[in-house]
Amino acid sequence: MKFTGTSHTFVEPTDTLNGEITVPGDKSISHRAIILGSIAEGTTEITGLLEGEDNIRTINAFRSMGVNIERVSPGEFTVKGVGLRGLSEPEDVIYAGNSGTTARLLTGLLSAQDFFTVLTGDASLRGRPMSRVITPLSKMGATIYGRDGGRCLPLAIKGSALRGVEYDSPVASAQVKSALLLAGLYAEGDTTVNEPRVSRDHTERIFEGFGAKVRRDGTSVTVSQAGSLKGTKVVVPGDLSSAAFFIVAAAITGDSHLVIKDVGVNPTRCGIIDILRRMGCGIEFENVRNGTEPVADIVVKSSTLKGVEISGDELLPAIDEFPIICVAAALAEGKTVISGASELRVKESDRISAMATVLGKLGSVVEEREDGIVIEGVEELKSAMVDCFDDHRIAMSAAVAALKTNGGVQIDGAESVEISFPGFFALLSKLTL
Ligand code: S3P
Repeated sequence: MKFTGTSHTFVEPTDTLNGEITVPGDKSISHRAIILGSIAEGTTEITGLLEGEDNIRTINAFRSMGVNIERVSPGEFTVKGVGLRGLSEPEDVIYAGNSGTTARLLTGLLSAQDFFTVLTGDASLRGRPMSRVITPLSKMGATIYGRDGGRCLPLAIKGSALRGVEYDSPVASAQVKSALLLAGLYAEGDTTVNEPRVSRDHTERIFEGFGAKVRRDGTSVTVSQAGSLKGTKVVVPGDLSSAAFFIVAAAITGDSHLVIKDVGVNPTRCGIIDILRRMGCGIEFENVRNGTEPVADIVVKSSTLKGVEISGDELLPAIDEFPIICVAAALAEGKTVISGASELRVKESDRISAMATVLGKLGSVVEEREDGIVIEGVEELKSAMVDCFDDHRIAMSAAVAALKTNGGVQIDGAESVEISFPGFFALLSKLTL
């Protein structure tokens, strides 16, 4: 194996990328399958679950609250649901690691439990804003104390009886929406979240699968207090956010033809497809199947990319793909301007600054702006050593950029890919042999 995925991983350039692959399960859906399975009645059988570090945090959290979660085989889990009121007080602090989804969704759920919890995470997560969930949950009657004036983890949560509210969220965030919808399952009356634009809708879809009533109207979603949820089967599709690294890898290398099988193509996640197509990338969906979550095989070919303007509205369904879009832009003809992207400053790292730094080291002409970035494309990047800011998506973006350099890239902190894509370097290595 050429690329080890250890902390100093060297990725060599390649001429072409061909083959048929699958990518690990969707991170967002995997979190939700564990959460809903835990508070449902009866058994939930999950296949395709992502066993990344973030999802393991969610599994461990529910195990610590008395839920029996068994790993049957890789990606196959059974969750013995304890019912909406069956969780028990954990003996220790819940550690969410690097996972914003674990922290924010659990803050919503824990606010409604009849017990006390403390929630914390790693240094990155402890620096990320939690007031976006604490403020609306407090309006529902939640009792949450936090560090830094109540804004940051660790949080101390004393569960209480909640009441439904109608909340106008200032930010289009699926984590905020999902925290409120989970709390809303327990709150008296209806809980409505109005978003400025519709964020990823996996929670709404999976709620329906578990028998919770969700009403959607444009950018609003409402959930009513639930009597019970019913355990079900969940088939987690491949993660489009993980596939995105290989889509761009195939697009930027010559004579490539790559098929990525069984990828989730939920329209609220397909921004990367729309943006890359607009940049001139040849991408097709084949074998499209419509279930709770739409799934397709993605076929991508080498393409001559061109720079484009990307607005915040367009970026929302591609929010996690900002780093890899920057790589595509760095190898496109002309200039790419991304604006309305200030949310990227509060992800696992400040991704605007991180990508400006990484691409700058690789010889790209980059201008960092408060709410975005301007990237002037070049034909080939330069060999360099880069740090990935302990951010899985920065590490994988740097690895893809390395394929189109004059001598390869050493990535420091490459083990962070374990957060969302265990086996990333092995797969890349196999394709570039
Ligand atoms: C996620 C929502 C998004 C995304 C994150 C996963 C989710 O975060 O960036 O990786 O599973 O709900 P925001 O809700 O903060 O935009």
